[in-house]
Amino acid sequence: MKKLTLEKILQSQGFGTKKMCRYMVLDGLVEIGGAVVDDVHAEFDPTDLEFTVDGAAWRYREKVYLALNKPTGVECSRRPAVHRGVLSLLPDQFTARDVQPVGRLDHDTTGLLLLSDDGAFIHAQSHPKRHVSKTYVATTHEPVTPELVAKLQDGVILMDESAPLRAQARQVGESEVEIVLDMGKYHQVKRMLAAAGSHCVALKRTAIGKLTLEALGLAEGEWCYLEAAQLAMLTTG
Ligand code: URA
Repeated sequence: MKKLTLEKILQSQGFGTKKMCRYMVLDGLVEIGGAVVDDVHAEFDPTDLEFTVDGAAWRYREKVYLALNKPTGVECSRRPAVHRGVLSLLPDQFTARDVQPVGRLDHDTTGLLLLSDDGAFIHAQSHPKRHVSKTYVATTHEPVTPELVAKLQDGVILMDESAPLRAQARQVGESEVEIVLDMGKYHQVKRMLAAAGSHCVALKRTAIGKLTLEALGLAEGEWCYLEAAQLAMLTTG
């Protein structure tokens, strides 16, 4: 990759304006290979460049792909109205890079949420024809019955939908049902449960394609970068 000055590298990674980044370098806040680099004219190949800013370690990434274990009480909207916004759970650099959630989870839904600043990736993942499965575990008010599971599998009619919507469903606890969808209509899990005569009291997304929250090992509110092998798991399922 073309060599760039540190101020340009920092700016591309969301550290602020060119001027702010220049002062970070001049102030000796940036280290590479354990040594301060305060020469604003020095150029580096940014590919996989590892550096620290004010002691915090970073690696240059042209685009970022993130997974977050979303807690409850957090809005996925870019302009949160009632609850805190999901971007507030991430370092400010990601907001500056225009990182956005890939699709949305309700404010009271927890679990696996992808975020990225790669518009093509967001578009591809969100495309209705893509059919990447999304797995949820819903906790219901009443115990789950075989009839409920059968209704979800056979299909339920939702308001504004002409054809019945079906889901793979299986009981995973006394009041817990796992539901796998290959599309994402508005409030789909909660509406399907309501249409099947149940009531969802808690909802968690546990997997997208073959990428599971369990394998990522994220506690609620924690995030991680997704690397190529994990991104490849999003295309199947
Ligand atoms: N279905 C819902 O009802 N809510 C979500 O957040 C996701 C899927």
